[in-house]
Formats: sequence, C-alpha cells, structure tokens
Amino acid sequence: MKKHVPIISLFALFLLLGACKSDFNYFYYSKEETELLSQYLNLPEIPDDYTVTFPAHLSNVGLFPRAVERDKAVLGRVIFYDKKLSKDGTVSCASCHKQALAFSDNKVFSEGVYDRSTTRNSFALGSVANFSAYYGTDLNGFNAIRFFWDNRAETAADQSRGSMTNAQEMDMSMQEIAAMVESQPYYAPLFNKAFGSPVVTEDLVLEAISNFVNAMGSFQSEFDAEANQSDPTPDGNFGNTVYHSNFSGFTSAENRGKYLYNANCSSCHSGNMGRPVLQLANNGLESNPIDLGVGGITGVNSEKGAFKVPTLRNIALTAPYMHDGRFANLEEVLEFYNSGIQNHPYLHVPNRIQVCHTFL
Ligand code: HEC
Ligand code: HEC
Repeated sequence: MKKHVPIISLFALFLLLGACKSDFNYFYYSKEETELLSQYLNLPEIPDDYTVTFPAHLSNVGLFPRAVERDKAVLGRVIFYDKKLSKDGTVSCASCHKQALAFSDNKVFSEGVYDRSTTRNSFALGSVANFSAYYGTDLNGFNAIRFFWDNRAETAADQSRGSMTNAQEMDMSMQEIAAMVESQPYYAPLFNKAFGSPVVTEDLVLEAISNFVNAMGSFQSEFDAEANQSDPTPDGNFGNTVYHSNFSGFTSAENRGKYLYNANCSSCHSGNMGRPVLQLANNGLESNPIDLGVGGITGVNSEKGAFKVPTLRNIALTAPYMHDGRFANLEEVLEFYNSGIQNHPYLHVPNRIQVCHTFL
C-alpha cells in the first residue's frame, strides 16, 4: 500500500499543475484576448516578473531599483521589439540594442530607417546595474544620472521620445507612433491590462516603454556574488564602495585586474559597478573635440568634450567602444588609457596626472 502513495500524489500533482496552466491562460487575458494575442505575439504564458532585487552589496549602499508595473513593462517590451513603429517599418529599439550583446550593437554606428546611420555608438543598456535605481530625474531627483552620451534626456520617457522621433533612428512623430499602436490589434488587450482601457495616447506609450527600460540592467555577475561576501571600503561618494581585498573566487589575474581597476578607473566608473561616481567627464579622447558631448547641449565651456561616464558591466560583449565606437576591442581601450590620453584644458584630473601609467 505504502508504495502506491507517492504515485497517487504525483498523479494528483500532475492534475493540479495541468489545471493551473489552463486556468492561468484563461484568466490572465480573457480567452478572446489570449487567442488574439497568440496570432501575433509569442508572449510567455506567465508574464515575466519585472521586479528587480539588487544584490546585497548594492542595496547596502542605498541603491534601490524602483517598483515597476508589470503589465506596463510587458506592453513596453512589445513596443521595444515592434518594427512597425518606425517610418519604413524596418527598425525597432531592439535593432540597435540587441539582447545577445548586452543590449548594444556591434557596429560603430547603428543603422536606422532608410539605412541612415546614427551619429554615435549605441549605448549598451546592459552596462547599467539598473536604470530605475539611479537614472531619471523623475525617479531619482536632481542628482539622477541622465540618459544619452551627452546626458540630454532627463527621464526614460524623454529618452524614448528622443529615439522614436530621431531622424537617424525611427523617424516618427509621437502622433504617428500612437496612431500605429492603435491600428495594431494586439495592442488593445495589452493596453487594457496595463491601463484599464484600450485607448492609446502618446503619454501612455511612453509610460509603458519607460517601465520596461527602467526594469533593465545587469546585477547578477560573478563580481556581484564575490562583492556580496567581501568587506567594502566606502569611497566617500553616495552609493559607491571599493573592494580592496582579493576576491576568493577570482583567479589571480582577475584580482590583479581588479587592483588596477581600483587604482586607475574606479574613481570615475565606480568600484562596485553601481552608480557611476561622476555623471560626466572628459577622459582625454581628443584635444580638440568636434563632438562636444555634454557641453554641446549645455553650452558650458568645461563640459565641451565631456561625455557620460558609463558603467562597465558586460563590457566584453559591447564592442566597439566609446561614444563614437573608435576602439574595436578592450586592448585598444587599455592602450588608450595607458599611452593615448590627449591633453585638454578640461581633462579630468585623474587622467591629467596620468595615473593610468601605474598600469605597467
Ligand atoms: C537606430 C539605432 C537605435 C534605435 C532604433 C534606438 N536606439 Fe537607443 N540608442 C542608440 C544610440 C546610438 C544611443 C546613444 C545616442 C546618444 O547618446 O546620443 C542610444 C541610447 C539609448 C539609451 C541611453 C542609455 C544611457 O545610459 O544613457 C537608451 C535607454 C536607449 N537608447 C533606449 C532605446 C529605446 C527604448 C529605443 C526605442 C524606443 C531605442 N533606444 C531605439 C541607438 C538606437
Ligand atoms: C576621468 C574619468 C575616467 C577614468 C579615470 C576612466 N574612465 Fe573610462 N570612460 C570615461 C568616460 C567619460 C567615458 C566615455 C567617453 C566617451 O565615449 O567619450 C569612458 C569610457 C570607457 C569605456 C568605453 C565604454 C563603452 O561602453 O563604450 C571603457 C571600456 C572604459 N572607459 C574603461 C576604463 C578603464 C579600464 C579605465 C582605467 C584604466 C578607465 N576607463 C578610466 C571616464 C573615465
């Protein structure tokens, strides 16, 4: 008798699981909506959970991802991959932000509509720990990190509007975007779920995609696992710490690299791969830059030639490097910091005194 019990309970479990699966499908979107959606989209049966929980070493220094509304993020994800939302129907956000490349592009400049070329290198969205934790003045106040290489967009909504309406990228007006979304049958159920109504407006499109972008980031690396078990030294900047002692799970070459990174790079790029220490810096690419970066937007002299300081998560996947994609690989980047830094009146101090020479 005893022997049969597990078989019976397994059978019961099987029935239960089967029941959950079909009930779920039936209830998450209505039956009609589910049928409609499955004609056009391949959505996961259970919508992804967009809650981001940071590793302890980042939350210990006060970095917290903001809550994301799941149904808005689900809708935002569909928008992110939808080529219909571009002027010639060939480009979506994902054309230039490819998941396999940590949401970057492997080209110096990306191709937008009608084979037009962007004027800067695509930003790797997977180089950031999480957008909502320190980006966006709407979520993180005046000191927030801004979007784009020249920090010209304050919020994720401004950023998306910028990409959708940029002539080199998707080249749509926001009215055209809203009209195209409205005309595609699969958006009605997603809007219903996200906003309680199928009515499409420009602001709701931006709200949905902002929820998706704000959930993005990378925070489960080997570095994070090691940092969680190590004692940090605060470096005096909000949300930043440096790990001086060797990580037990790192090879000696990795630990040597971490030492060099802490000595030469972490004062800008951050010692815990969290919020960048500086919002912008001139790292000495050009003595007479043509692309003025942040200064081209603000007009402030000391910011002419300064760019956003990116964090370097997933950096091995995101070549080519810098705002103009000038370096094809990491060796070239390191050789630049070692021997190629150009003088500039506003070169950031650590680079001016060439600490990077401690490299060799
Ligand atoms: C044609 C290529 C292309 C398309 C399409 C595109 N992007 Fe980008 N994206 C770029 C480039 C290039 C940059 C950097 C531009 C700059 O900083 O001036 C960028 C920057 C960004 C950034 C800034 C990241 C940061 O840390 O500052 C975000 C976020 C982003 N894109 C998201 C999106 C979203 C969302 C869409 C769709 C609505 C989109 N992109 C469409 C090429 C593209
Ligand atoms: C003075 C601050 C500062 C220091 C110090 C610094 N960087 Fe940078 N780094 C920047 C800025 C600013 C950029 C973006 C520059 C641009 O594209 O115009 C950048 C870009 C990069 C990029 C390209 C990222 C991408 O997504 O394309 C890499 C890689 C990089 N730095 C690595 C390093 C390494 C390694 C060190 C130490 C040897 C270092 N940096 C030291 C400020 C700094």
